[in-house]
Amino acid sequence: MCGIIGITSNKEVTTRIINSLKKLEYRGYDSAGLATLKDGFINEVKCEGRVEALEKNISKTNVQGEIGIGHVRWATHGKPSTINAHPHSSETVSVVHNGIIENSTILKKILEKKGYKFKSQTDTEVIAHLVTDYLKKNNLKNTIIKVLNKLHGSFALGIIFKDYPNLIVGARRGSPLAVGYGPNENYLGSDSYALKSMTNKVSYLNDGEFCLIKENQVEFFDTKGNKANKKILNLSQDNQNYDKGDYKHFMAKEIDEQPTTIKNCVNEYIDKISKQINIYNLPWKTKEISSIVLIGCGTAYHSCLIAKYWFEEHTNLDVTVDIASEFRYRKLKFKNDCLYVFVSQSGETADTYAALDICKKNKMKTCSIVNVVESSIARDSELVLPIHCGPEIGVASTKAFLGQMLVLYMLCLKLSFDMKIINKKNYQEKIKNLLSLSNLCKKTLLTDSKIQKTSRTFIEAKGSMFLGRGYSFPIALEGALKLKELAYVHAEGYPAGEMKHGPLALIEEGMPVVVIAPRDDYYKKTISNMQEVIARGAKVLLITNKSKDEIHSENIWETIEVENLSEDLFPFLTTIPLQKLAYYSAMHKGYDIDKPRNLAKSVTVE
Ligand code: F6R
Repeated sequence: MCGIIGITSNKEVTTRIINSLKKLEYRGYDSAGLATLKDGFINEVKCEGRVEALEKNISKTNVQGEIGIGHVRWATHGKPSTINAHPHSSETVSVVHNGIIENSTILKKILEKKGYKFKSQTDTEVIAHLVTDYLKKNNLKNTIIKVLNKLHGSFALGIIFKDYPNLIVGARRGSPLAVGYGPNENYLGSDSYALKSMTNKVSYLNDGEFCLIKENQVEFFDTKGNKANKKILNLSQDNQNYDKGDYKHFMAKEIDEQPTTIKNCVNEYIDKISKQINIYNLPWKTKEISSIVLIGCGTAYHSCLIAKYWFEEHTNLDVTVDIASEFRYRKLKFKNDCLYVFVSQSGETADTYAALDICKKNKMKTCSIVNVVESSIARDSELVLPIHCGPEIGVASTKAFLGQMLVLYMLCLKLSFDMKIINKKNYQEKIKNLLSLSNLCKKTLLTDSKIQKTSRTFIEAKGSMFLGRGYSFPIALEGALKLKELAYVHAEGYPAGEMKHGPLALIEEGMPVVVIAPRDDYYKKTISNMQEVIARGAKVLLITNKSKDEIHSENIWETIEVENLSEDLFPFLTTIPLQKLAYYSAMHKGYDIDKPRNLAKSVTVE
């Protein structure tokens, strides 16, 4: 995580650094800082907390310059504090860093022996002193090559120098980094989003590369210092909506946007006349694929878990689902007939990217399902399937989750049809159901007031459980994750059938338990499990679908009924009340809903 910005220009840069940092806050928001170079001096301003606080400090200190670097932090080494905020500077060099320097302890010892004094507990400060040290005996380019060789771990760096008045050095290993081109100025940024208000012309550094950015020139180099040629890419026109409108929080807006984002995505992928799914650009023949591995983290991983049920039901593929941070370190047997699918809203998640990278190095078939089409994961996959959700700003993923499920579902149907597993009639029936999904999401959003009321019980309890079977089990995991991350309440998602194997011991009088049981093949079994928890004192909030049939159970605390639709699409609707449950729970507690504590939107460290 952490966000980096750098600008070298012939005019003042401080305000624009601040504005870019506000855009980068989704990458980290526990502290912020910037450094500029003016009249041969490096001026640094930093503070704990948000960019807003930094902006106030800057207006007091009047820091200015025509070259500068800025940073928003998500703490890894050293707690969030002003001292640990970036940039980290020596007398001659100032550094911003995203990533982790794994050998910082040993480097620090060596530098301390040489007399360098450390102020912070961060791993980043070693870079400032290391660069300073090498510069004593080397020219700039050799210094950078030697310093990068010394560093273990992953990083994106931005560095300015007292003695090189208009130069920013950028370097990348693992963490993403982009360079932007402007009139008489050039930029460095963690992503193109931070640069979009200044330019639509960008290049991306490849792993191991570094660059020298001056106001009128940018040079790229590989690990050995050989010049590297770069394509300049034109970013698409940015007419995206980054505004909260009348909403109090982005999360509320993003939940409410789901009917529209579902509709947009369906429109992008479904040809309404031929009733076909438009995924025509598969770079492989379907007969070359006999298994599929779905990989993601957090909420994206949950979308993969649901897709496993769809792929198993509608295709003959062997399906495996993996958490990216586990996948990347396992002893894997790569198979040529396997398709590896990477799911990520941001497209920048370090673990997911590393998993993709391993597959690429093993020459596997790769496909990504992303929201940010300019992201590293999208750029480096053979096939990209965007989810067309528009920017998701709230740290807790909502509309992207529905978008990920939707694209996975459509990919599944498309493969099933091409592989001649599903017949045309069923295929087109399923496509017809997808066309009504947006409207049903809209109606399900109306289940609001009941959830507002029940959410109070969840925040007062010492813990809660979310139970489901089949498609509803990953939804239970997702509901529990949302409640944990937003309301800071302990919540556990469990397969309903597993309760009696241990977790049932947790149930006590008054404990809130969410049971997700739409009327599908698992319904009766889940209702039995629900009765078992009610019998032990649980207060059950049942999420099911509308039906003429009565629910054969007594003592259900509250029931929320989502709209009726085909069984395999229930996860789209049963998710919505759970998103709202987490939202209202956090709201009652007065927490920062769009920026929950300890988290960041884009997780670019492992
Ligand atoms: C939870 C949440 C996270 C992300 C995870 C992966 O609400 O947002 O669990 O889903 O960090 O992020 P992406 O999808 O950007 O790879």
